[in-house]
Amino acid sequence: MIESNKIWLDGQMLDYQDARIHVLTHGLHYGTGVFEGIRSYATPRGNALFRFDDHIRRLYNSGKAYFMHYEFSPNELKRATVEVIKANELNECYVRIIAYYGYGKLGVNPLPNRVSIAISAWQWTEHIKKQDLDQGVHLMVSSWEKIGIKSMPTHAKGVANYANSALARMEALKSGFDESILLNSNGYVVEASAENIFLVKNGVLYTPPISTGALEGITRDSIIEIAKKNRIEIRFENITRDELYYFDEIFLTGTASEIVPVGHIDHRKIGGGSIGPITKKLREEFDDIVRGRSELVGDWLTFL
Ligand SMILES: Cc1ncc(COP(=O)(O)O)c(C=O)c1O
Repeated sequence: MIESNKIWLDGQMLDYQDARIHVLTHGLHYGTGVFEGIRSYATPRGNALFRFDDHIRRLYNSGKAYFMHYEFSPNELKRATVEVIKANELNECYVRIIAYYGYGKLGVNPLPNRVSIAISAWQWTEHIKKQDLDQGVHLMVSSWEKIGIKSMPTHAKGVANYANSALARMEALKSGFDESILLNSNGYVVEASAENIFLVKNGVLYTPPISTGALEGITRDSIIEIAKKNRIEIRFENITRDELYYFDEIFLTGTASEIVPVGHIDHRKIGGGSIGPITKKLREEFDDIVRGRSELVGDWLTFL
């Protein structure tokens, strides 16, 4: 990763190298943390954070599931985030806010420990080139089952949920695929390891309901709103593994990866094997909105 200059930790702006934690930090041993990933984009009116309030709201909801008491109000965290971006002199960047049970008492119960919050930001670099992206990524259905809604709070962006994601992602990469799709215990498609999934058939847009265990993604919600504005019908339906193979278009959505067309799943070509017309239209509109070139959804940008 590209190192930046400053990281905010519990109210203090520290030099990058000094933002350290104790090895006996509770969150490190038991996964008792929650986090957010937020993108800042360069727009004609200056840099802007995309759906900043929605990300902060989700950070508070995630913390609620884990009985976390934050010592900072949403406005204080928002101010601190802007300070971090400015202190690092960043334009397009990725912001990571993490709240975790800290050092103090090391047993399964995290409650005796202070909840710390850290805010970092670093320069964003595309991990897959756009021209490659038009070809569509290759996915596999993971042998790992998605953690169940009765096992973990799946609405929360909890650190511990990502052990499941990491296993699925590693399996995909080691098997020569780009990413995994996870099914739930009922055999229904949930999402990819770090992205929601959308599917298109006969001009209708589909996505699995949140009750499958999918994260209520902010990019997912953005695509739903953009589709509604374009009068594209959207259905929230359970989808089985082999149904995936018969869709005309499939794409993934997430803050980090934005809109990613899918070319193949389990070695089966999806539609024409490259980006389809509806995916292209939604991706273009999404790009225009985040980069401030469209007034379609005016209040999604917070200018720094
Ligand atoms: C498991 C999972 N699903 C979906 C998403 C997409 O969510 P968002 O669009 O809010 O980034 C993410 C993002 O990190 C994720 O980790």
